[in-house]
Amino acid sequence: MNAAQLQQIAALERLLPLEIVAMRVADLPQVVALEAAAQPFPWQERNFTDSLTAGHHAWILRRGATCLGFSILMHVIDEAHLLNIAVAPSAQGQGMGARLLRHAMREAARAGMDKLYLEARPSNVRALQIYQAFGFRQVGVRKAYYPAAKGREDALIFCAALEGSEVKQ
Ligand SMILES: CC(C)(COP(=O)(O)OP(=O)(O)OC[C@H]1O[C@@H](n2cnc3c(N)ncnc32)[C@H](O)[C@@H]1OP(=O)(O)O)[C@@H](O)C(=O)NCCC(=O)NCCS
Repeated sequence: MNAAQLQQIAALERLLPLEIVAMRVADLPQVVALEAAAQPFPWQERNFTDSLTAGHHAWILRRGATCLGFSILMHVIDEAHLLNIAVAPSAQGQGMGARLLRHAMREAARAGMDKLYLEARPSNVRALQIYQAFGFRQVGVRKAYYPAAKGREDALIFCAALEGSEVKQ
């Protein structure tokens, strides 16, 4: 296929709707590449494989055959934990992260979870803004939790109530 044909396919794909579907093993090449491009300390393929094997709730946001983002949640009794979420750098700032987070909160609420927990780096301003906009409140800190360019960085622990919230409907 030549460059012009590839451009035509890309233009046609942009007309397709966005959808969020369950992540499958066949999605992992795209998911792993997206993660490597989006995160400073990315999960490796085996982390995703382990998550799918463990039965975590994993979703991709896609347009046609192109994966634009993903979310991974673990349910523990009545608490959901957002283990990972990312949007492809070229698709960030267009509401994709908000779509994924809204979907994750709805799905967790539907599955009977009362709360959603997540962790973020204090330096991840973009992530902190989206979480605060979605009603997450900081409930703790894990000191020196993440590897960082220099030494280690804290993890801020956030929580949002799901029960009775609008996301449950
Ligand atoms: C965090 C992330 C998932 C957000 O996804 P996104 O698609 O860029 O976010 P959205 O476009 O849906 O924006 C949602 C909100 O985030 C905030 N936001 C988005 N872009 C921002 C920017 N450049 N600066 C500050 N805040 C920003 C805004 O509050 C925005 O709300 P608004 O649309 O009302 O302004 C995405 O930036 C990402 O993949 N980052 C790398 C991986 C990562 O950090 N994951 C989270 C680990 S805790």
